[in-house]
Order: sequence, then C-alpha cells, then structure tokens
Amino acid sequence: MNINYGYFRKPFLYEMKIFETINATREHVHSLSNQHLTVGFVPTMGALHEGHLSLVRRATRENDRVAVSIFVNPNQFNNPADLEKYSRNIGADLELLKPFLEEDDFIFAPSVAEMYPIAETQVYNFGSLAEVMEGRFRPGHFNGVGVVVNKLFRIVEPLTAYFGEKDFQQLAIIRRLVSIEQLPIIIIPCPIMREPDGLAMSSRNVQLMPDHRRAAPLIFETLTKAAGKVISASPEQLRQFIISTLNHTGLLEVEYVEFADEATLNPVTSWAESENIRCFIAVQAGEVRLIDNLRV
Ligand code: PAJ
Repeated sequence: MNINYGYFRKPFLYEMKIFETINATREHVHSLSNQHLTVGFVPTMGALHEGHLSLVRRATRENDRVAVSIFVNPNQFNNPADLEKYSRNIGADLELLKPFLEEDDFIFAPSVAEMYPIAETQVYNFGSLAEVMEGRFRPGHFNGVGVVVNKLFRIVEPLTAYFGEKDFQQLAIIRRLVSIEQLPIIIIPCPIMREPDGLAMSSRNVQLMPDHRRAAPLIFETLTKAAGKVISASPEQLRQFIISTLNHTGLLEVEYVEFADEATLNPVTSWAESENIRCFIAVQAGEVRLIDNLRV
C-alpha cells in the first residue's frame, strides 16, 4: 500500500495512545481541551483500508489532534451472520494508523461491555432519511449507528468529525443526529476511495469470493455509464439498465438502485425534480452485500 506519511508528522518515536475505557479517554480529552487543542475525530469499525486512512489523513491536516475509534458496534448489525464474519484485527489496524498518529493523538477501542453496560433503549426519529434505501433493507441499522455515534461524540468531544461519502445515507443521518442532539460538532464529508478497478473500498471486500470480486467492479462501471446517459434516458429507464446489466452476470444481484435527491434522499422520477441527484445502489455479491453511490 502506498502510505503518505505527511512531512510534518513524526512517526515511531513514541508509544501510540490506545484507550479501552471511557474514563481514560475523557481524562486525555480534558487535558487536550485544557491546552485549547482541537480534536478531529474519525469513527470506524476497524478492518481499516485506504478509505479510512484518507479520513485520518485529512483529520491530521485540519486539527491539532486526531482521535480514531475502533469499535464493531453490534447494535447496527441487523444481520447476525454479518456481525459474526466482520473482520477484526486490531493489530493490523494499529500498524496502519501508526504512521499518521502523533504523540497526543489517540485511539479509542472499547469493548462492547464498556459501550453498552446496560441494554440500549434510545430510539431516534430520523424521519424518512432512515426509511429509504439502507433504512428499508436494514431495519434498525441507522438507529444503532445514531446511538453509538452519539455516545462516541460525547466521549471524544471533537470539534470536527470525518465521514465517508461511501456511506452517503449514514452521513445524512449523522448530520440529523447532530441537530437532534444539538452537538457543537462540524461534520466533514470525504470522497469515496476506490480500488484501481473502480470498486469502492470496503472492509467487506476481503470477504468476496474470487468470482464475485472479479464481477464487483461492474457496479461502479455501470453507475458511471448510467450517469453518462441522463440526457437521453429517464431515471426509471436507467434503473432498469443498471439492474439488468448487473443481474445478467449471474454473480451480482441488485437489492435496490435509486436516483435520489442528495439532501432529502427521496427518489426522483424525473431529472427536473432536483439539481443534486445521486445514484445509490446495494448489490448482493454471493454472501457479501456491497453499496456504492455516484453523483449524476
Ligand atoms: P466503517 O464502515 O468502518 O467506516 C468508517 C468510516 O470510513 C465511515 O465514515 C465510512 O463512510 C468511511 N469509509 C469506508 N469506506 C470508505 C471509502 N471507500 N472511501 C471513503 N470513506 C470510506 O461507518 C462505520 O464504520 C460505522 O457505521 C460507524 C460510523 C463507525 C459507527 O459505528
């Protein structure tokens, strides 16, 4: 992997700060705030790749200190098998983060018991944002994301927090969460990082069987083709084009594909309905579920 160390970072001269408890994290956070240092925060579920690292790199550039959380949040997995097989390798994650983190930057890697000492009951009303697309096919998922990110925000108390457009709907949910909870946190969207063949980087890509991995770049390729046809075809015609192209492989199966407004995430039936339209897709590739999106 091509790691950009950043000329002003001083790697390897100290032990990385890794906190497993909320108390230890709060103590450090308060010492940073006493020094009037700003914290940029990158929440993750580990299994880190260049997509995550692009967020970390940006956070190091734009803040005095950086916090990365690594926590596979059981609350947001609607499918127990998906939670079970989710890659966990904290050692590899720490190695990847090492070149980016300076002495007072920190990693928060709590246990499930630390984050959920009592059963969680919080229910958010994210409105239609949580009912379309991912919300429809992964019931409870965004509530789980909201619950954990709210907890993380209150522990880390960042000035800024970085989220990838790979999970575009999640980004919208996080913005709504920040207004519901009235948190003084600036949400920074970051572009999707892709493999050289166009496949959106994801922690789930390593679970793809070879045939499915070979077929998977067709997702982005087809979205790109569809985006080039918006003058000549309606949203519904392009949806059908994408579905038939991908399903035809026999390896990929479209779960949903929608052209939707970037702010409301409501599907559009004509291009005139919105000036900011994005195509959103979820595809089953064997046992692995992949998502992607592209502005059209
Ligand atoms: P995770 O899937 O680990 O992703 C952590 C962050 O990395 C998210 O903001 C995600 O959008 C971003 N990311 C993942 N792949 C990316 C890519 N190819 N390009 C750019 N950014 C990418 O998203 C979660 O974890 C969880 O839901 C979390 C927010 C941590 C709450 O548990």
